[in-house]
Amino acid sequence: MEKGKIGVLLSGRGSNFKAIFEKVKSGEIKAEIVVVISDNADAQGLEFAKENGIETVSLDIKSFPSRKDYDRKIIDILKGKAVDLVLLAGYMKIVGEEFVSSFKNRIMNIHPALLPSFPGLHAQRKALKYGVRYSGCTVHFVDEKMDHGPIILQAVVPVYQDDTEESLSERILREEHRIYPEAVRLFFEGKLEIRGRRVFIKQE
Ligand code: GRF
Repeated sequence: MEKGKIGVLLSGRGSNFKAIFEKVKSGEIKAEIVVVISDNADAQGLEFAKENGIETVSLDIKSFPSRKDYDRKIIDILKGKAVDLVLLAGYMKIVGEEFVSSFKNRIMNIHPALLPSFPGLHAQRKALKYGVRYSGCTVHFVDEKMDHGPIILQAVVPVYQDDTEESLSERILREEHRIYPEAVRLFFEGKLEIRGRRVFIKQE
């Protein structure tokens, strides 16, 4: 059987991408990463992909006549590579409606908070400021609204009195690296079933 194909979109460090790459390499995720695309030519994640022989593409959004054209270019690249699952891994752009409908229920994102709390940027800072005792991270399918689609997995971490944005982010990131690869593994094993907003995980 042919292996599933993953396309990754990232803008920076790429630690989630690396965590997923490791599980692909070890065979726990039954798929291959066929392309890594970035809106930032200097993204560390792109470097890592190149070093590991994965095809990379960097696109300068300013060189496209419109946002739609930029998105369309990405859709074309992903379709051209017959990508089954698109992973947003620290991708700092919002994906447009056409993108979402081209890969319906086949785009995942990781967010560093327990959605629906603290969507958008600086989620860890917002959680700390709000005073929650627990925060965490969420892997979800992407729909038309930001940080909104059906939730696949979440992990909870405590917030300590002496936490800073950095210390809380670090604690959350460790969980991100655990649950994002896990969600991808479940996807390629056909264990995720979406019913409305709810994602059911078939018994292993
Ligand atoms: C992570 O905190 C992720 O939850 C958020 O962006 C950050 C990306 O980190 N969406 P990295 O590039 O994967 O290291």
